[in-house]
Amino acid sequence: MCGIVGYVGSKSAVEILLDGLEQLEYRGYDSSGIALKCNDSINVYKAVGKLKNLREVLSNHTQEVNGANIGIGHIRWATHGAPTVVNAHPHTCNCGNLVVVHNGIIENYKELKEKLEALGCEFRSQTDTETVAHLVAQKYAQTKDLTKAVQLATKEIEGAYALAIMHNDEPDKLVITKRNAPLVVGIGEKEYYAASDIPAFIKHTNKAVYLSDNQVATITKDSLVIEDENGNNVPLKIEQLPWESVALSKMGYKHFMLKEIHEQPDVIRNILSGKLHTSLAPVELAEVMLTKESLKELNRIQIIACGTSLHAAMIGKYIIEDFCSIPVDVEASSEYIYRKTVTDDKTLVIGVSQSGETADTLTAIKQAKSRGSHILIITNRPDSAMAREADSLLSVNAGIEVSVAATKSYIAQLISFYLLAVYMAEIKGSKDANYLTKFKSDMLLLPQKIEEILAHKEVIQNCARKYSGTRDFIYIARGINYPTALEGALKLKEISYINATGYPAGELKHGPIAMLDDTMPVLSVLMKGNVYEKILSNSEEARARNARMIALTNSTDEKLNDLFDFIIKVPDVNELLSPIISIVPLQLIAYYIAEFLGKDVDQPRNLAKSVTVE
Ligand code: AGP
Repeated sequence: MCGIVGYVGSKSAVEILLDGLEQLEYRGYDSSGIALKCNDSINVYKAVGKLKNLREVLSNHTQEVNGANIGIGHIRWATHGAPTVVNAHPHTCNCGNLVVVHNGIIENYKELKEKLEALGCEFRSQTDTETVAHLVAQKYAQTKDLTKAVQLATKEIEGAYALAIMHNDEPDKLVITKRNAPLVVGIGEKEYYAASDIPAFIKHTNKAVYLSDNQVATITKDSLVIEDENGNNVPLKIEQLPWESVALSKMGYKHFMLKEIHEQPDVIRNILSGKLHTSLAPVELAEVMLTKESLKELNRIQIIACGTSLHAAMIGKYIIEDFCSIPVDVEASSEYIYRKTVTDDKTLVIGVSQSGETADTLTAIKQAKSRGSHILIITNRPDSAMAREADSLLSVNAGIEVSVAATKSYIAQLISFYLLAVYMAEIKGSKDANYLTKFKSDMLLLPQKIEEILAHKEVIQNCARKYSGTRDFIYIARGINYPTALEGALKLKEISYINATGYPAGELKHGPIAMLDDTMPVLSVLMKGNVYEKILSNSEEARARNARMIALTNSTDEKLNDLFDFIIKVPDVNELLSPIISIVPLQLIAYYIAEFLGKDVDQPRNLAKSVTVE
């Protein structure tokens, strides 16, 4: 949550910082600000709302800002205090000489604030961050050294933070530090970048150093020095970054979400290559570091995740239990961390996260790790904090996902679960070998099937147009597609703000049916297989209450025409693989409805791509 950027070099900093913030808008976007060293002072510029408002503010100050070669910037997702100009970062100490931007939460800010007020500091904002500005300024008054002041101040801070700090008395220097929040330094030619994430600077350099917790980096245009919290020098571990900046372009699509939905066939091909070549060979998952013996001895699996990743985990449970006969529990990370969970060294704990930075999941993973369980992380970010906690790391390689609504990363997580389930079943011998061969050949056909759906997306667009005026939406499904109903509903509510809910179809009659009338759209995920007839009966019950019925189906049964007002047909597929096929039209329905309603598809209100606060 929140994004920070910093630049020091010989170029004009303002455009570099603004551009960097634009790339980080997925982390938050309710207000923004930058601080630049201009002539004799550090000037701060802030605005509420999208980044374009900050650009507008700065357009009135071009003369004073253009010469600045050093600065820091922030894009905010409010936690403490409303999104106002006063609460926007950078925050300053009382004399204005010290400026700070922060991502994270200072948990002991109230106690710090009391102490600082007693020392005469005057607080202007409602944020936790302002305490950092005053605290570091106090330490600076004692040390006259910004790096030392930061080292001393962070010893008193509890919580999570990535910080970038400048002081007017050390005008060529940027000091940055972090704990439990991401921060990376980009290395250019006589210039350095600091950011919460690499898209902020990838177009300038692909050389970078990731800061570890409690390290403090002191950066000038000629040097980067990293020290631990006690001031000991840390050797630089320079990495070549994997992302291409072209991945950040919309490539002609109106929104990133639509582009990312269209990337899904290639995302699947990408994950399968190297792991599943042909249906006749076993799945190769060298990333799983459990020995075959310990894998066979596993007595339970726990999967922890949030949001869309949680829905992928629910499908993972279904398939692993079916293929491997190991009991699997799935739990929202935010619940897992506040109860006594039972794990031992025969428990495999799987954390699923697109970003690899979600605070709830990260905390849950650390908790499970401390109890001796093997930790397997499924993530799209092999460079993330969660990846660093992993004993086994399954990188889903979906490419950078910019839209706040997760789409291609979800498909990639599902494919990873299918691969894992087949891999374990092949080692355990827990599923018929012929069945698995057929299953693998069906998996290899999935990209083409999604391409077929995308080629006929006008039908889905028409459906979205027809139902875009609704205030509520119900999705029903059973079995392995119940999480599909949840995910379809989550997509719709996230980006259109329509009240959408997913139900197990059999639960409809236990309460939700009371809501049905001729204004309520009910979408049945009706895939052929085990529970097809059951969902059909549940759909009949909804039709009998005059609901506006929509079917998403791979059935060609003529009688569906009498039951449903709108039918979206998808290609035929093995029932256990059908969540990969059925989610695509639901992503598109959500997208087109939001688009018809004129919503901000890629950056929906109140949300952020990476939720780094608990
Ligand atoms: C997905 O569309 C959401 N934006 C959100 O639910 C997300 O899946 C959740 O915050 C978890 O994020 P993660 O996968 O990065 O951990």
